Amino acid sequence: MRTRIIGTGRAVPDTVLTNADFERMVDTSDEWITTRTGIKERRIANGEQALSDFAIPAAEQALEMAGVDGSDVDLVICATVTADTVFPATSTQIQHAIGAGTAAAFDISAACTGFIYGLGIADSMIRGGTATTAVVVGGEVLSKITDYTERATAVLFGDGAGAAVLRASPEEDHGLLSVALHSDGSLGKLIYRPGGGSRHPINSADSDHSLTYLRMRGNETFKIAVRSLAEVSDEVLTACGIGHSEVRWFIPHQANRRIIDAVGQRLEIPDGHTYINVDRYGNTSAASIPIALDELNRDGKIARGDIVLVSAFGSGLTWGAGVMRW
Ligand code: COA
Repeated sequence: MRTRIIGTGRAVPDTVLTNADFERMVDTSDEWITTRTGIKERRIANGEQALSDFAIPAAEQALEMAGVDGSDVDLVICATVTADTVFPATSTQIQHAIGAGTAAAFDISAACTGFIYGLGIADSMIRGGTATTAVVVGGEVLSKITDYTERATAVLFGDGAGAAVLRASPEEDHGLLSVALHSDGSLGKLIYRPGGGSRHPINSADSDHSLTYLRMRGNETFKIAVRSLAEVSDEVLTACGIGHSEVRWFIPHQANRRIIDAVGQRLEIPDGHTYINVDRYGNTSAASIPIALDELNRDGKIARGDIVLVSAFGSGLTWGAGVMRW
């Protein structure tokens, strides 16, 4: 028995922030952003919007594609570091909105690797018999924790959500074939948000508001990202005996075009088989892989039998990958 993705969905804000907009906000240029990151524009939530405003429609779309009623869902996982509220979990809002009875629902915090962690957990629960039908959402509203006066991070991130419906399938050779998940907390300060948790609660007049913004050491992150994405992708392919040349779609975390190109080269993924949309969305963290997956799937570009490889890295540090036969 394998776990299969039987539906996907996505939702992003309407507002587009272009590189030209950033040229008016900070000391930067379209040329710098494009050559260093490959990003041209990103979607940004408005003042009233929160994660569930994107996560719920993404989940609804995925259910509709799957032809599954919300009442049949018994597991809802939302991967995010920008939940509507610190608690309760945004997954419970999704559970309620889709009418998923009293399904199990929880959020997971694995930053940009969150959707792959969600896939791995849902796969284990489905195959272990604790769930039958799962909705896994990766969503993020990073604009709410981005310092728009700090050019090195501001230009990188965007908002949105993607979702997948997972269900058990009796076919041994179709579905999720292998998942690998890793972390290294010694590198926790490469990308992090110092404030808003119990270390630096933001609840008094003397709180330092700047602690609530995301901080990142980009250059160091870059090198580790390339290495970890390549290694973990290799790990999952080796685990199920699939050659790199057999990969029809490689969907890496969309953080930076240069990272994606470097990893694709290391893995020797055939030309035209790596999916890239970072130019249109920037880095949407946990949403990046499910948004990309839905774009491919909804456009009919993934055929039954295709090998799809997903891999991501992010704050923690965390990294992971999954390989499936569609
Ligand atoms: N516009 C113009 N100049 C900028 C800039 C911007 N938006 N951001 C930084 N710079 C400047 C820096 O100040 C620095 O100037 P200096 O040489 O005068 O000191 C110069 O550009 C080079 O900075 P550096 O940080 O070395 O650039 P880089 O080539 O490493 O690119 C990143 C920066 C952030 C694009 C790149 O490191 C990166 O993508 N890292 C990975 C980040 C990531 O993926 N994070 C998410 C993980 S999920």
